[in-house]
Amino acid sequence: MWALDLLNDTILMALAPSLLVLIGSMVLIGLHWASLGAVIAVGALFYVAITVLFSTRYIAPAARISNAWDTKVGGTLADALTCNAVVKSFGAELREDTRLARVINRWRVRVRRTWFRYNYTAMAQLSLLLALRASVIGGSVLLWMSGHASPGDVTYVLTSYYVIHAYLRDVGMHINNLQRSVNDMDELVAIHDEPIGIVDASDARPIAIEGGEIVFDDVTFHYGGHREPLYDGLSVTIRAGERVGLVGRSGSGKTTFVKLVQRLYDVSDGRVLIDGQDIAKATQQSLRSQIAIVQQDPILFHRSLAENIAYGRPGASLEAIEQAARLANAHDFILRLPKGYGTLVGERGVKLSGGERQRVALARAFLADAPVLILDEATSSLDSESEALIQQAMERLMKGRTSIVIAHRLSTVRSLDRILVFDRGEIVEQGTHAVLAGKPGGIYRGLFERQVVDLGRLAAAE
Ligand SMILES: Nc1ncnc2c1ncn2[C@@H]1O[C@H](COP(=O)(O)OP(=O)(O)OP(=O)(O)O)[C@@H](O)[C@H]1O
Ligand SMILES: [Mg+2]
Repeated sequence: MWALDLLNDTILMALAPSLLVLIGSMVLIGLHWASLGAVIAVGALFYVAITVLFSTRYIAPAARISNAWDTKVGGTLADALTCNAVVKSFGAELREDTRLARVINRWRVRVRRTWFRYNYTAMAQLSLLLALRASVIGGSVLLWMSGHASPGDVTYVLTSYYVIHAYLRDVGMHINNLQRSVNDMDELVAIHDEPIGIVDASDARPIAIEGGEIVFDDVTFHYGGHREPLYDGLSVTIRAGERVGLVGRSGSGKTTFVKLVQRLYDVSDGRVLIDGQDIAKATQQSLRSQIAIVQQDPILFHRSLAENIAYGRPGASLEAIEQAARLANAHDFILRLPKGYGTLVGERGVKLSGGERQRVALARAFLADAPVLILDEATSSLDSESEALIQQAMERLMKGRTSIVIAHRLSTVRSLDRILVFDRGEIVEQGTHAVLAGKPGGIYRGLFERQVVDLGRLAAAE
């Protein structure tokens, strides 16, 4: 903002008037004494040209680099601070210090170089001005001595030249400022030019979700930078009001599936339809406001618990908030906090335990009351007792809504209408728990047996 200010001021209030006066005075001298006028004009032109050249070719590249390092110092600091817990738990303070010191050292070298370039440029400008002044004074005195000029002429030229000299110095300074403000805005402009990942189509309309039927129609999806597409022609239909579980090993593409439903990424090929409407043609805001989601790694705002829960439905009453919290089995722990629903939860919710954070996220989704509900490992950090309680709440909540439940713990999905088993971006099995668990040699059966065996072992140990 300051850079933009400086740019405006420099051009409109400083450079333009200075140039005007400069040109005017030179014309006046030229009218009075053509040869000296020409000398001054050539000198001034040369001076401005050199200044522009130094600014853009000598200072600007260095300034661009030191600005980039400015940003890097900020980035390194932010990275170390946000991962502060990791730094502490590995006792790596010294290592982080060294790392920061290294970055700062390189930053210092770059900034110093820029600073020196400013100063060298200023020295060159001053020398040029002094040379010009010397030749104007010397020239007029010589002309006077040889009888080609009167003392009046000399006085006229010298006084006018002092005016010109001052303006030339100003113009040099303004050009430097101009370059500096343009450099300072570089990164801002670059950010502005960055293409927006997901853009609403120009004729995008709000989507109206009623039943919440979700159709993946021959969807191909590719994460940028990956060589292989994750989904290659994936087709699946989730009926309106159906409760579907997604299982499969880590990295098989379950979270990505729900990200595509929310259109956090655009598909490379094929379509995703909700209630028959292509979500690529809907406004993102309308789409996402009708999907309630508990993310795999829920993040909270550093605001009160009540505000966090009400995020899905701004303006919800305290009763409604408490009701949602009760359903999510969060009410009791919230009341035990020092300020109850007014408690601030810290950046990203760090002041809550993982399970507590998850329950707040669940309450948020419960309150949102959207036709499509997505739970991505929503109960993974809960103890079995809370999980069982929430399971009941979820059953109630999923009634009449299209629900997608992702879980590694199969107990969470076994009662759902249908289970989709993902493997490397493909749906390799689907059906109810009973069907899949009875399928000899099936992946789901394998997963299920392993979990049952583990449970059995646990029971035997007890
Ligand atoms: N933003 C991203 N950019 C690039 N690759 C990604 C991104 N998010 C996920 N991936 C990759 O896509 C694949 C599928 O990831 P996804 O998060 O869908 O897995 P998942 O089935 O939800 O796994 P988990 O059970 O561990 O949560 C993984 O190989 C992952 O590395
Ligand atoms: Mg996942």
